Amino acid sequence: MATDARGRAYVPYSNFRVGACLKASNGAYYMGCNIENAAYSPTVCAERTALYKAVYEGERQFDALAIIWDGENYAVPCGVCRQALAEFCHPAMPVVCANREGEYKIFTMGELLPEAFTAEDMQ
Ligand code: THU
Repeated sequence: MATDARGRAYVPYSNFRVGACLKASNGAYYMGCNIENAAYSPTVCAERTALYKAVYEGERQFDALAIIWDGENYAVPCGVCRQALAEFCHPAMPVVCANREGEYKIFTMGELLPEAFTAEDMQ
């Protein structure tokens, strides 16, 4: 499903497609692609597109995330996406990171963003 999502990327500036698929704890899947902008900074990554679609639909808990992109390295989320995901995804949640060949490595959220700043830090 992340590969399908990558096919929907809107990337006229980088031509670098990214697709993501987030599995909610109730079993629903939310797909996202990167969506670029002529002003560059409004660009949103595939991971956040998927996350924000899911949160809008009322989801608050997730079991897994898959990401695939056009690069030869494994598709790891950027720093902004790691922080956005940490709001809703527990440290043990697996993130499947695939390269353009479909080869993948699995990390946990905690490995990708150790010592994440969350609501608990504001007690
Ligand atoms: N991008 C993502 O969608 N996810 C990532 O984890 C890294 C970067 C997008 C943003 C932009 O459209 C393109 O990849 C190049 O940075």
